[in-house]
Amino acid sequence: MKKFLSVLTIGFILLNAAACNNEGESVEGPEEINVGVAIYQYDDNFMTLYRGEIERYFDELSNEEVEYKVTVTDGKNDQAEQAAQIDNFITQGMDVMIINLVQTTSASTIIDKCEESGIPCIFINREPSESDMTSVGAEYAGKMTYVGADARQSGRYQGEIIADLDDKGDLNGDGKLNYVMVVGDPENVDAKYRTQYSIEQYIETSGLEVNKLVEERGDWKQERGNEIVANALAQYGEEIEVVFCNNDGMALGAKQAIDAAGRIVGEDIYLVGVDALDEVVDLVEKGEMTGTVLNDHIGQSNKAVDMAIDALNGEKLDTYYWIDYVKVTK
Ligand code: BGC
Repeated sequence: MKKFLSVLTIGFILLNAAACNNEGESVEGPEEINVGVAIYQYDDNFMTLYRGEIERYFDELSNEEVEYKVTVTDGKNDQAEQAAQIDNFITQGMDVMIINLVQTTSASTIIDKCEESGIPCIFINREPSESDMTSVGAEYAGKMTYVGADARQSGRYQGEIIADLDDKGDLNGDGKLNYVMVVGDPENVDAKYRTQYSIEQYIETSGLEVNKLVEERGDWKQERGNEIVANALAQYGEEIEVVFCNNDGMALGAKQAIDAAGRIVGEDIYLVGVDALDEVVDLVEKGEMTGTVLNDHIGQSNKAVDMAIDALNGEKLDTYYWIDYVKVTK
């Protein structure tokens, strides 16, 4: 018996020795969880904030027990490049993936890869079609989700911001709103819905008619917003009453063009965006932009991370999680 006990004691000491360094501290460390995050393009104001918050939040959630090791890739707006990055995540054996697709029309190919790998996957920001989201088998369905905001809501809010102005945006009082629409990327539902619902909601809320002067794609970029609105102002001048931009990046470009043309937002033209970038919120406060709509990158990124962790813990995910937009006016 004595011999048996001493063997046990030695075993215990050896075990302890393996888990401790010279100072007697544990060297086993936290469990490492590998997270692959594929962003459609780094060169995007909004997604830069979004990915920064994903990394910050995973960092905040890391502790002595679990450490989240996050690898983020830049898809450079190239779907083939992003597909290769996702293949890499799968071969590297990522525990979970967060994917901001380059092209939602390619979602089915990516979803097939993800399902085959069995790795839980959270889609963000660029919403795949409902048929793609529901195409996977029952088992994988609980490991895959889309976290985002309903772009129809942001469009409606833009329309309401203009319709709620004292003159309903109709600066010349002819009962018709002459507008310019700066579109993100027509392949993307955020752009499609904002373009459509802003105008539909405007008509419904104001009871006035609309007259589209220009509608052009600006790929979410500030310089394109600037170009499109500068050209529109050169062509239509004072006729333009409102400039709708699918995002704040392009609205910032539009604001530069409006300033350069000597027009004054709130006096002889109105301008509205989406995202509520800090710079734009400052302009709205000063009355230099009519309004914007908060696209809550903190709420969305935190929800995406929380769902990634739920999936890792074996919880069954819903197909969609929605975060509300919020109207921002002076
Ligand atoms: C944002 C845009 C951004 C785009 C990227 C949209 O939800 O409003 O600013 O460029 O997402 O996909």
